[in-house]
Amino acid sequence: MTTNSLDAYCAQHQQRLERFLIEAINAHTQSITQIPAAKPLLDALRYSSLGGGKRIRAMLVYMAAQACQSSDIESEMVDCAAAAVELIHCYSLIHDDLPAMDDDDLRRGKPSCHIAFGEANAILAGDALQTLAFTMLTKAGRSDDQLRLVLLAQLTEAAGINGMIGGQAIDLAVTNKTLSYSELVAMHRLKTGALIEAAVAMGASCSKATTHQQQALSDYAQAIGLAFQIQDDILDIEGESIDIGKTKGADIAANKATYPAILGLQAAKAEAQALCDKALISLSIFDQDAAPLRDLAHFIVNRSH
Ligand code: IPE
Ligand code: IPE
Ligand code: MG
Ligand code: MG
Ligand code: MG
Repeated sequence: MTTNSLDAYCAQHQQRLERFLIEAINAHTQSITQIPAAKPLLDALRYSSLGGGKRIRAMLVYMAAQACQSSDIESEMVDCAAAAVELIHCYSLIHDDLPAMDDDDLRRGKPSCHIAFGEANAILAGDALQTLAFTMLTKAGRSDDQLRLVLLAQLTEAAGINGMIGGQAIDLAVTNKTLSYSELVAMHRLKTGALIEAAVAMGASCSKATTHQQQALSDYAQAIGLAFQIQDDILDIEGESIDIGKTKGADIAANKATYPAILGLQAAKAEAQALCDKALISLSIFDQDAAPLRDLAHFIVNRSH
């Protein structure tokens, strides 16, 4: 697979996800849409969840499911898992930008949710996206309650205190402080790695992966999850605001504990590349069905947005 085929894969699956998300949001907001006073909340929710973002976590759900190539994948479950992970991610970005957190005004090349809709609507839109993700999973698919429960457990664990929320709390607590390397790894794995690992695990669950496949995918996801945040830290320094859609230099301005701040830029780049190599080795048990996962690993450490 080449960059071109990764682009084509992502374009096709992004479109599929977008359609699913629009329908799911419409279906789950039908009654509140009738109440005019709820319009700002609904506008904020749509603004931050539709038509933007790379959708990497959703892509990972589809790609991991494909790598295991089970013949009886229920496509609605995969779509729902992809959409649910992405909704949690969108909510995390809204809250991450709030004045009490990173205080960022720009997201995906547009005013952050709280700039566009006010802080209260942004908080509530984040809350609504989070609960919508779980509601969707409770209703997904036709009959496989066991799978539904597994997906819910994987997502709640990754989104909560032992995952993204725990990592975000550490990120805020250690701002302006020096971290050891192992503390830095632990923080990045929680705040960003956990959701990426959940996306891959959920794709594998939808595909009824064997234990051997699950382990290989888990090793892959751990490596790219960390690499993803390292590259995000690097782009805060080397990227352009027009490409990253965020204010360049925000981490330095806030004195955040990042890979480049603690290891230096060159060592951070070397670490991201080493993690990409590690991720690729983890996939050695898979055939061509894992080509999109391999290409995505390369993209994660070479991206400019
Ligand atoms: C940004 O994630 C936040 C981090 C966890 C580093 P993405 O770079 O995946 O954001 P979008 O969804 O593409 O905007
Ligand atoms: C965010 O990390 C991780 C989340 C859980 C949202 P950052 O704070 O570095 O993400 P950006 O750079 O604002 O997208
Ligand atoms: Mg942050
Ligand atoms: Mg931030
Ligand atoms: Mg960042």
